[in-house]
Amino acid sequence: MEFIHQMAPWIDENEINHMVEYLRSGAWLTEFKKTEQFEQMIAEYTGSKFCCVVNNGTVSLAVALWATGIGPGDEVLVPDYTMIATANAVRLVGATPILVDIEPQTLCMDLNCAEKALTKKTKAVLLVSLNGRSPDMGAFIDFCREHDLYFLEDAAQSLGSFHGRKHLGTFGDIGVFSFSSPKIITTGQGGALVTDSEELYQKIKKIKDFGRETGGTDWHDEMGYNFKFTDLQAVIGIEQMKKLPQRVIRKKEMYRLYESELGGIDGLEFIPTFDQTSPWFIDIYLENPQELQKHLKQNQVGSRTVYPPINEQKIYANGREYPVSRNYCHRGLWLPSSSFLTDEQIVYICDSIKKYLKVKKPAKALV
Ligand SMILES: Cc1ncc(COP(=O)(O)O)c(C=O)c1O
Repeated sequence: MEFIHQMAPWIDENEINHMVEYLRSGAWLTEFKKTEQFEQMIAEYTGSKFCCVVNNGTVSLAVALWATGIGPGDEVLVPDYTMIATANAVRLVGATPILVDIEPQTLCMDLNCAEKALTKKTKAVLLVSLNGRSPDMGAFIDFCREHDLYFLEDAAQSLGSFHGRKHLGTFGDIGVFSFSSPKIITTGQGGALVTDSEELYQKIKKIKDFGRETGGTDWHDEMGYNFKFTDLQAVIGIEQMKKLPQRVIRKKEMYRLYESELGGIDGLEFIPTFDQTSPWFIDIYLENPQELQKHLKQNQVGSRTVYPPINEQKIYANGREYPVSRNYCHRGLWLPSSSFLTDEQIVYICDSIKKYLKVKKPAKALV
């Protein structure tokens, strides 16, 4: 049996044919019309007025912070359970990430803990919609308004996920997505910023293009860098975006299948996931996930332990306690989650897990 990876990108003849056609067209490879088309598709899908793509999700976060004027001396609230890039981006712009514990219902930032972490230096909340899940977004908006904070969304894992009828990443001043290989759609590397503010959009465009006054000039009226995309990536991104709606449906089906096979087993926890959520990865929580990971590997199944809590990373140790993130980050395992997995593969994976847990739950799906 072939090894089932925890996650793998999904590219087919569409990407290959369009890439060949593009390369034969004499195009300049760097960002231009294809990039604009890709940005337009993201803006339309997410319901944002503006979209701007850059090198990757981490840079998108830093650009969002620069665009809002956040820098040295400022504090930004960041959840303790996230990919390290969320906190690192805050440091990249010279500000200080203040770690905040998460709520057990959604594994996203706990608003009560955020309130306690506020100081006079706090300038923004950088909310992570972890695995496409979201907390009470209205309450976060109110909180940010009340305390005059920017509301920035790290929606790197949330393309295809909504809260109510609104796409995640569109609640705050700026939302950010990532297109690295494990994401629901990929351009190899890549990131996007979405916003409804024309002013922020213009700032973002300048920051990514050396602070250039306008295109075609070498006068620079502001500080900026080169965070540009390429049309090479956009050719792939456009084809991937066309497949996004189908992948969202499949991710939801896959989550439900895993849950129906493994839900209710003692000692194994699923986090509630709603119809609007398109889970990025299938995440389960149990004691000693490393042992299950070893067992799955022997059965040709890849998995990955979830992120350690940020406060336990050497560069972020602060001596404070984060009991909820400690609890989940040390018990989490990501199961195979590529949208091309078949039901048979998922049932096989679940059977391997049941064997490990010595559970006699029959497979429902294929009966
Ligand atoms: C929550 C979160 N934020 C930021 C990033 C960074 O994105 P990138 O890898 O595109 O830089 C990731 C990547 O997985 C992520 O999961």
